[in-house]
Amino acid sequence: MLGLQRRLTPAERTRTLVLCFMVSGCLCEVTVEQPPLVSAALGHDVIMPCVLQVTAEDTMVTPPILYWSQMMENVTTAKLWTPSPPYKGRVDLLDTNRSSNNKSILLRNVQWTDSGKYECKMSITTKKSSFRKKGRKTALVVHDTMLFNVTVHNGSLLRCEVNVTRDPGLSLVIVHNNSCRLQTEDSAAGGAVHTALSASAPLRGGGRYECRLSLEGLLITQSFFYSHLPVSGEAGQTDTGATAHPPVVYPEPWFLYVTLLLVHVIVLLVILAAMLRYKVSARGGATNT
Ligand SMILES: *[C@@H]1O[C@H](CO)[C@@H](O)[C@H](O)[C@H]1NC(C)=O
Ligand SMILES: *[C@@H]1O[C@H](CO)[C@@H](O)[C@H](O)[C@H]1NC(C)=O
Ligand SMILES: *[C@@H]1O[C@H](CO)[C@@H](O)[C@H](O)[C@H]1NC(C)=O
Ligand SMILES: *[C@@H]1O[C@H](CO)[C@@H](O)[C@H](O)[C@H]1NC(C)=O
Ligand SMILES: *[C@@H]1O[C@H](CO)[C@@H](O)[C@H](O)[C@H]1NC(C)=O
Ligand SMILES: *[C@@H]1O[C@H](CO)[C@@H](O)[C@H](O)[C@H]1NC(C)=O
Ligand SMILES: *[C@@H]1O[C@H](CO)[C@@H](O)[C@H](O)[C@H]1NC(C)=O
Repeated sequence: MLGLQRRLTPAERTRTLVLCFMVSGCLCEVTVEQPPLVSAALGHDVIMPCVLQVTAEDTMVTPPILYWSQMMENVTTAKLWTPSPPYKGRVDLLDTNRSSNNKSILLRNVQWTDSGKYECKMSITTKKSSFRKKGRKTALVVHDTMLFNVTVHNGSLLRCEVNVTRDPGLSLVIVHNNSCRLQTEDSAAGGAVHTALSASAPLRGGGRYECRLSLEGLLITQSFFYSHLPVSGEAGQTDTGATAHPPVVYPEPWFLYVTLLLVHVIVLLVILAAMLRYKVSARGGATNT
């Protein structure tokens, strides 16, 4: 604003300041819109949206001058537009037309240190006045790949792990079949900017398990795990257990063998006894005659 006012007389400057106050007092005329939260995967590119909303009667006489800054509290820590050293070569305007109201930027190769708040600000010159307008800041949350699988030591325990920008509003939950929430949450220390979050839950039958990372209700990233386990462990084993078990070895039926042998011996003895009796009776008959 100082740059623009240097050319003005004191009287004009007062008028500009009054108009400036009036314009900024009436939020309906000019606003800078930016979303409260944007999330990005580490090493990937991210779009940070920013759009200038101007009513028809507030025609701008020159293109708006854009400033994108990383903020710490209310202090600028680095300039993204036009890019200063940590952002040099990593930031592009999506719409290169200077007259465009779309001031969204593309940030490439996102790093942990990019986590933080970003403010989109514009210097606007309309027929009536010249002023600056700020957006409500966008928080950039950076996350790494989410790992979601059964643990190595326990095949019926699901574990979800993710590294993410440190923020007390973050939550990690495991959901079964889109409805049933089951999780035990714990977090461990990470680096200065990011933290390692983890959650675990027991596998409770088949279906779809989802691990969801969100910040104050807004989804940041998720991962799925599909299980084909039967609903109950006991019921499942009777159904599928037979094929899985090794063949059962039964003891030799020695008693049966002995019994069968005994039957043959008894039959043989009966025949022998009958033959002897016949011989005796035959001899007796011969002596009688
Ligand atoms: C930052 O500025 C806003 C208004 O622009 C104010 O409400 C807030 O208290 C300030 N925060 C700090 C930490 O100074
Ligand atoms: C701004 O421009 C980018 C790139 O052209 C586009 O993806 C985005 O949807 C635009 N946003 C609005 C609000 O028009
Ligand atoms: C830039 O945008 C303005 C307004 O949206 C339009 O009138 C103008 O033709 C555009 N210029 C180019 C080079 O696309
Ligand atoms: C999940 O764990 C199982 C068993 O430990 C392993 O065979 C499988 O490859 C893992 N899957 C992924 C995507 O890491
Ligand atoms: C999180 O980061 C630490 C190093 O800071 C690393 O050892 C760990 O494997 C990471 N965890 C995941 C799930 O990527
Ligand atoms: C595996 O995890 C389940 C679910 O937490 C638990 O009930 C079971 O006791 C664990 N088994 C072993 C061998 O640790
Ligand atoms: C989850 O869904 C699977 C298949 O869609 C089903 O077999 C299972 O019984 C469901 N489990 C629960 C607890 O709803």
